[in-house]
Amino acid sequence: MERKNRIVVFGGSGYIGKHLVKASISLGHPTILYTRPSQTLPSKTQLYKDFISMGVTLVQGELEHEQILGVIKEVDIVICALPLPLLMEQLKIIEAIKVAGNIKRFIPTGFGAEEDRINPLPPFQAVLDEKRKIRKKIESAGIPYTAIYANCFAAYFINYLLHPHQNLNNINVYGNGEAKAVLNYEEDIAMLTVKAANDPRTLNRVLTCRPPKNIISQNELISFWEQKCSQTFTKTFIAEEQLVNLSQSNSIYLSISF
Ligand SMILES: NC(=O)c1ccc[n+]([C@@H]2O[C@H](COP(=O)([O-])OP(=O)(O)OC[C@H]3O[C@@H](n4cnc5c(N)ncnc54)[C@H](OP(=O)(O)O)[C@@H]3O)[C@@H](O)[C@H]2O)c1
Repeated sequence: MERKNRIVVFGGSGYIGKHLVKASISLGHPTILYTRPSQTLPSKTQLYKDFISMGVTLVQGELEHEQILGVIKEVDIVICALPLPLLMEQLKIIEAIKVAGNIKRFIPTGFGAEEDRINPLPPFQAVLDEKRKIRKKIESAGIPYTAIYANCFAAYFINYLLHPHQNLNNINVYGNGEAKAVLNYEEDIAMLTVKAANDPRTLNRVLTCRPPKNIISQNELISFWEQKCSQTFTKTFIAEEQLVNLSQSNSIYLSISF
Protein backbone atom coordinates (compact mmCIF):
# COMPACT_ATOMS: atom_id res chain seq x y z
CA MET A 1 0.00 0.00 0.00
CA GLU A 2 1.27 3.50 -0.84
CA ARG A 3 2.63 5.35 2.17
CA LYS A 4 0.68 8.49 3.08
CA ASN A 5 2.66 11.72 3.10
CA ARG A 6 3.73 12.84 6.55
CA ILE A 7 2.65 16.40 7.37
CA VAL A 8 3.86 18.99 9.86
CA VAL A 9 1.68 21.99 10.69
CA PHE A 10 3.32 25.12 12.10
CA GLY A 11 0.76 27.18 14.02
CA GLY A 12 -1.46 24.11 14.21
CA SER A 13 -2.91 25.09 17.60
CA GLY A 14 -4.28 28.34 16.18
CA TYR A 15 -7.55 29.45 14.61
CA ILE A 16 -7.16 27.87 11.16
CA GLY A 17 -4.29 25.61 12.24
CA LYS A 18 -6.60 23.45 14.38
CA HIS A 19 -8.74 22.69 11.34
CA LEU A 20 -5.66 21.90 9.26
CA VAL A 21 -4.37 19.42 11.84
CA LYS A 22 -7.80 17.75 12.06
CA ALA A 23 -8.11 17.60 8.26
CA SER A 24 -4.64 16.11 7.93
CA ILE A 25 -5.21 13.38 10.50
CA SER A 26 -8.72 12.61 9.22
CA LEU A 27 -7.31 12.10 5.72
CA GLY A 28 -4.93 9.52 7.16
CA HIS A 29 -1.67 11.47 7.16
CA PRO A 30 0.83 10.94 9.96
CA THR A 31 0.59 14.46 11.40
CA ILE A 32 2.92 16.53 13.55
CA LEU A 33 1.87 19.72 15.32
CA TYR A 34 4.88 21.96 15.87
CA THR A 35 4.17 24.12 18.90
CA ARG A 36 6.05 26.41 21.27
CA PRO A 37 7.18 24.75 24.51
CA SER A 38 5.84 27.47 26.82
CA GLN A 39 2.13 27.31 25.89
CA THR A 40 0.40 25.94 28.97
CA LEU A 41 -2.95 27.75 28.58
CA PRO A 42 -5.86 25.54 29.77
CA SER A 43 -7.55 25.81 26.35
CA LYS A 44 -4.39 24.55 24.67
CA THR A 45 -3.86 21.75 27.19
CA GLN A 46 -7.28 20.30 26.30
CA LEU A 47 -6.60 20.79 22.59
CA TYR A 48 -3.28 18.95 22.85
CA LYS A 49 -5.00 16.08 24.71
CA ASP A 50 -7.64 15.88 21.98
CA PHE A 51 -5.01 15.93 19.25
CA ILE A 52 -2.94 13.22 20.94
CA SER A 53 -6.03 11.03 21.25
CA MET A 54 -6.59 11.47 17.51
CA GLY A 55 -3.04 10.27 16.82
CA VAL A 56 -1.34 13.65 16.26
CA THR A 57 2.31 13.88 17.33
CA LEU A 58 3.24 17.02 19.26
CA VAL A 59 6.73 18.40 18.73
CA GLN A 60 7.70 21.33 20.91
CA GLY A 61 10.14 23.89 19.61
CA GLU A 62 10.85 27.51 18.89
CA LEU A 63 11.07 29.15 15.48
CA GLU A 64 14.78 28.42 15.40
CA HIS A 65 16.76 26.89 12.52
CA GLU A 66 18.09 23.66 14.05
CA GLN A 67 14.80 22.82 15.72
CA ILE A 68 12.79 23.54 12.57
CA LEU A 69 15.23 21.51 10.48
CA GLY A 70 14.90 18.58 12.88
CA VAL A 71 11.13 18.33 12.41
CA ILE A 72 11.20 19.05 8.68
CA LYS A 73 13.53 16.10 8.08
CA GLU A 74 10.80 13.85 9.52
CA VAL A 75 8.02 14.84 7.08
CA ASP A 76 7.10 15.17 3.40
CA ILE A 77 4.79 18.19 3.52
CA VAL A 78 5.03 21.44 5.50
CA ILE A 79 1.91 23.51 6.14
CA CYS A 80 2.39 26.87 7.81
CA ALA A 81 -0.51 28.50 9.67
CA LEU A 82 1.43 31.08 11.65
CA PRO A 83 -0.40 34.41 12.20
CA LEU A 84 0.06 37.52 10.05
CA PRO A 85 2.64 39.26 12.28
CA LEU A 86 4.91 36.24 11.78
CA LEU A 87 4.75 36.15 7.98
CA MET A 88 8.46 36.88 7.62
CA GLU A 89 9.36 34.21 10.20
CA GLN A 90 8.64 31.82 7.37
CA LEU A 91 12.07 32.69 5.98
CA LYS A 92 13.42 30.36 8.68
CA ILE A 93 11.13 27.58 7.52
CA ILE A 94 12.13 28.19 3.90
CA GLU A 95 15.81 28.05 4.84
CA ALA A 96 15.30 24.78 6.72
CA ILE A 97 13.36 23.27 3.79
CA LYS A 98 16.24 24.22 1.47
CA VAL A 99 18.80 22.57 3.74
CA ALA A 100 16.69 19.46 4.37
CA GLY A 101 15.98 18.90 0.67
CA ASN A 102 13.26 16.29 1.28
CA ILE A 103 10.06 18.34 1.22
CA LYS A 104 7.57 17.52 -1.52
CA ARG A 105 5.29 20.50 -0.86
CA PHE A 106 5.23 23.69 1.21
CA ILE A 107 2.00 25.56 1.91
CA PRO A 108 2.87 29.03 3.20
CA THR A 109 0.60 30.89 5.61
CA GLY A 110 -1.72 33.57 4.27
CA PHE A 111 -5.01 31.82 3.43
CA GLY A 112 -6.52 35.12 2.30
CA ALA A 113 -6.84 37.15 -0.89
CA GLU A 114 -4.72 36.78 -4.01
CA GLU A 115 -2.09 39.46 -3.55
CA ASP A 116 -1.66 40.13 -7.26
CA ARG A 117 -5.35 40.58 -7.99
CA ILE A 118 -6.54 43.06 -5.37
CA ASN A 119 -5.83 46.68 -4.62
CA PRO A 120 -6.37 47.10 -0.88
CA LEU A 121 -5.94 50.01 1.52
CA PRO A 122 -2.32 50.76 2.60
CA PRO A 123 -2.15 48.77 5.90
CA PHE A 124 -3.29 45.64 4.12
CA GLN A 125 -1.05 46.41 1.14
CA ALA A 126 1.97 46.15 3.46
CA VAL A 127 0.90 42.64 4.46
CA LEU A 128 0.43 41.63 0.85
CA ASP A 129 3.92 42.94 0.05
CA GLU A 130 5.32 40.58 2.68
CA LYS A 131 3.35 37.68 1.24
CA ARG A 132 4.76 38.47 -2.22
CA LYS A 133 8.31 38.50 -0.80
CA ILE A 134 7.75 35.09 0.75
CA ARG A 135 6.41 33.64 -2.49
CA LYS A 136 9.39 34.99 -4.42
CA LYS A 137 11.77 33.42 -1.87
CA ILE A 138 10.02 30.07 -2.19
CA GLU A 139 10.13 30.21 -5.97
CA SER A 140 13.76 31.32 -6.16
CA ALA A 141 14.72 28.51 -3.75
CA GLY A 142 13.00 26.01 -6.06
CA ILE A 143 10.82 24.72 -3.23
CA PRO A 144 7.70 22.84 -4.42
CA TYR A 145 4.76 24.88 -3.13
CA THR A 146 1.06 25.61 -3.36
CA ALA A 147 -0.35 28.98 -2.26
CA ILE A 148 -3.90 28.75 -0.95
CA TYR A 149 -6.10 31.80 -1.48
CA ALA A 150 -8.98 31.03 0.82
CA ASN A 151 -10.68 34.42 0.55
CA CYS A 152 -12.74 35.07 3.72
CA PHE A 153 -13.02 32.52 6.51
CA ALA A 154 -16.80 32.18 6.78
CA ALA A 155 -17.29 31.67 10.53
CA TYR A 156 -14.72 34.35 11.29
CA PHE A 157 -16.38 36.94 9.02
CA ILE A 158 -19.96 36.06 9.88
CA ASN A 159 -19.06 36.53 13.51
CA TYR A 160 -17.59 39.93 12.68
CA LEU A 161 -20.33 41.09 10.30
CA LEU A 162 -23.40 39.86 12.22
CA HIS A 163 -22.26 39.34 15.84
CA PRO A 164 -24.79 36.49 16.04
CA HIS A 165 -23.96 35.62 19.66
CA GLN A 166 -24.53 39.10 21.05
CA ASN A 167 -28.30 39.54 20.71
CA LEU A 168 -27.92 42.95 19.08
CA ASN A 169 -30.83 44.85 17.51
CA ASN A 170 -28.52 46.91 15.30
CA ILE A 171 -25.90 45.79 12.81
CA ASN A 172 -23.02 47.88 11.43
CA VAL A 173 -23.07 47.71 7.64
CA TYR A 174 -19.81 48.39 5.83
CA GLY A 175 -20.22 50.75 2.84
CA ASN A 176 -23.69 50.25 1.37
CA GLY A 177 -23.60 46.55 2.20
CA GLU A 178 -23.70 45.51 -1.45
CA ALA A 179 -20.00 44.62 -1.89
CA LYS A 180 -19.64 40.90 -2.48
CA ALA A 181 -17.19 38.67 -0.65
CA VAL A 182 -16.31 34.97 -0.92
CA LEU A 183 -17.03 33.24 2.40
CA ASN A 184 -15.56 29.76 2.74
CA TYR A 185 -16.14 27.61 5.80
CA GLU A 186 -12.94 26.97 7.77
CA GLU A 187 -13.26 23.16 7.74
CA ASP A 188 -13.65 23.18 3.96
CA ILE A 189 -10.58 25.39 3.55
CA ALA A 190 -8.56 23.02 5.73
CA MET A 191 -9.69 19.92 3.80
CA LEU A 192 -8.97 21.60 0.49
CA THR A 193 -5.52 22.68 1.70
CA VAL A 194 -4.48 19.19 2.76
CA LYS A 195 -5.84 17.65 -0.44
CA ALA A 196 -4.11 20.32 -2.56
CA ALA A 197 -0.83 19.66 -0.74
CA ASN A 198 -0.98 16.08 -2.00
CA ASP A 199 -2.21 16.81 -5.51
CA PRO A 200 0.24 16.94 -8.44
CA ARG A 201 -2.10 19.35 -10.29
CA THR A 202 -1.50 22.10 -7.73
CA LEU A 203 2.31 21.85 -7.74
CA ASN A 204 3.89 25.33 -7.90
CA ARG A 205 0.53 26.96 -8.42
CA VAL A 206 -1.90 29.12 -6.55
CA LEU A 207 -5.28 27.70 -5.62
CA THR A 208 -8.13 30.18 -5.26
CA CYS A 209 -11.24 29.07 -3.34
CA ARG A 210 -14.11 30.85 -5.07
CA PRO A 211 -17.21 28.63 -5.24
CA PRO A 212 -19.93 30.75 -6.93
CA LYS A 213 -22.50 29.83 -4.28
CA ASN A 214 -20.23 31.20 -1.53
CA ILE A 215 -20.19 34.74 -2.96
CA ILE A 216 -22.42 36.95 -0.87
CA SER A 217 -22.93 40.58 0.23
CA GLN A 218 -23.35 41.76 3.82
CA ASN A 219 -26.94 42.82 3.02
CA GLU A 220 -27.71 39.31 1.77
CA LEU A 221 -26.15 37.83 4.92
CA ILE A 222 -28.26 40.10 7.13
CA SER A 223 -31.37 39.13 5.20
CA PHE A 224 -30.64 35.40 5.72
CA TRP A 225 -30.00 36.06 9.42
CA GLU A 226 -33.27 38.01 9.76
CA GLN A 227 -35.20 35.10 8.23
CA LYS A 228 -33.39 32.60 10.45
CA CYS A 229 -34.12 34.39 13.73
CA SER A 230 -37.43 36.02 12.69
CA GLN A 231 -36.19 39.47 13.61
CA THR A 232 -35.60 42.72 11.72
CA PHE A 233 -32.41 44.59 12.52
CA THR A 234 -31.75 48.30 12.31
CA LYS A 235 -28.61 49.16 10.33
CA THR A 236 -25.85 51.70 10.89
CA PHE A 237 -24.02 52.36 7.65
CA ILE A 238 -20.26 52.93 7.94
CA ALA A 239 -19.42 55.17 5.00
CA GLU A 240 -16.38 54.53 2.80
CA GLU A 241 -14.48 57.54 4.19
CA GLN A 242 -15.01 56.21 7.73
CA LEU A 243 -13.68 52.84 6.63
CA VAL A 244 -10.55 54.47 5.25
CA ASN A 245 -10.07 56.32 8.55
CA LEU A 246 -10.63 53.14 10.54
CA SER A 247 -8.02 51.33 8.45
CA GLN A 248 -5.49 54.01 9.42
CA SER A 249 -6.20 53.90 13.14
CA ASN A 250 -6.77 50.15 13.67
CA SER A 251 -3.95 47.65 13.60
CA ILE A 252 -4.70 45.03 10.98
CA TYR A 253 -2.84 42.53 13.13
CA LEU A 254 -5.06 43.24 16.12
CA SER A 255 -8.23 43.15 14.09
CA ILE A 256 -7.53 39.84 12.38
CA SER A 257 -6.38 37.60 15.22
CA PHE A 258 -8.34 36.65 18.30
N1 LIG B 1 -8.95 34.74 5.13
C1 LIG B 1 -9.39 35.00 6.34
O1 LIG B 1 -10.54 35.38 6.54
C2 LIG B 1 -8.47 34.81 7.52
C3 LIG B 1 -8.95 35.02 8.82
C4 LIG B 1 -8.06 34.78 9.90
C5 LIG B 1 -6.76 34.36 9.66
N2 LIG B 1 -6.36 34.17 8.36
C6 LIG B 1 -5.00 33.73 8.07
O2 LIG B 1 -4.74 32.47 8.67
C7 LIG B 1 -3.36 32.38 9.01
C8 LIG B 1 -3.22 31.92 10.45
O3 LIG B 1 -3.84 32.89 11.27
P1 LIG B 1 -4.56 32.47 12.63
O4 LIG B 1 -5.42 33.64 13.03
O5 LIG B 1 -5.16 31.12 12.48
O6 LIG B 1 -3.29 32.37 13.60
P2 LIG B 1 -3.32 32.38 15.21
O7 LIG B 1 -4.45 31.55 15.68
O8 LIG B 1 -3.26 33.81 15.69
O9 LIG B 1 -1.91 31.73 15.56
C9 LIG B 1 -1.55 30.43 15.10
C10 LIG B 1 -0.50 29.83 16.00
O10 LIG B 1 0.75 30.47 15.79
C11 LIG B 1 1.55 30.27 16.94
N3 LIG B 1 2.13 31.56 17.38
C12 LIG B 1 1.46 32.68 17.72
N4 LIG B 1 2.33 33.64 18.08
C13 LIG B 1 3.57 33.11 17.98
C14 LIG B 1 4.88 33.60 18.21
N5 LIG B 1 5.11 34.85 18.63
N6 LIG B 1 5.93 32.76 17.97
C15 LIG B 1 5.73 31.51 17.54
N7 LIG B 1 4.50 30.98 17.30
C16 LIG B 1 3.44 31.77 17.52
C17 LIG B 1 0.66 29.74 18.05
O11 LIG B 1 0.92 28.34 18.17
P3 LIG B 1 1.61 27.70 19.49
O12 LIG B 1 1.08 28.44 20.66
O13 LIG B 1 1.15 26.28 19.41
O14 LIG B 1 3.08 27.85 19.30
C18 LIG B 1 -0.74 29.97 17.48
O15 LIG B 1 -1.67 29.03 17.95
C19 LIG B 1 -2.75 33.76 8.77
O16 LIG B 1 -2.05 33.74 7.55
C20 LIG B 1 -3.96 34.67 8.65
O17 LIG B 1 -3.77 35.74 7.76
C21 LIG B 1 -7.18 34.39 7.30
